[in-house]
Amino acid sequence: MKRIIALVFLVLACQSLTAQETMASKPKAGASKTLSNVQKGKSIFLANGCMDCHSVNGQGCTEGVSLSSVGLRRDAEFLKQQLVDPDKHVEKNKKAFNSEPNLMTNPNLSPGEVSLIVDYLQTLKKPLPKKGSKSKDYNTL
Ligand code: HEC
Repeated sequence: MKRIIALVFLVLACQSLTAQETMASKPKAGASKTLSNVQKGKSIFLANGCMDCHSVNGQGCTEGVSLSSVGLRRDAEFLKQQLVDPDKHVEKNKKAFNSEPNLMTNPNLSPGEVSLIVDYLQTLKKPLPKKGSKSKDYNTL
């Protein structure tokens, strides 16, 4: 129960953060297309419950897979396929997923949404953990 309450708070916190960022980003007329795609991707990421199972820089579900360094570890095509059909992708890439079965629900995103989330995920490049690090943020595959 506590966990459910915590999740609801988390989702609310994420959404208000998204709203603030969206508002803050609007007046920046000269911002590059790429930067605004990354911001859009982040908003879609936050709005689609990704943080219910994942963490980024210590925020979100730290028991789940951290995406903090996913931009260093995976290329755009890998990220795209995981979002389009996690079942098929995990089955096809057993080694990358340590032969674990797929636990990720299909987020049912449009191709445009997938592409924007991939733009955002590619900016997540926190250095990989030192061996033996106990930080939950480094709970990578
Ligand atoms: C129900 C929990 C759950 C949700 C919700 C979820 N994921 Fe996942 N995700 C997982 C799990 C578990 C894995 C590990 C591989 C697998 O089981 O598919 C994973 C793997 C990934 C990977 C590959 C990570 C790596 O290191 O290779 C990416 C990228 C990813 N998820 C992105 C997302 C995005 C973006 C969203 C939101 C649209 C999302 N996930 C929503 C559970 C979830």
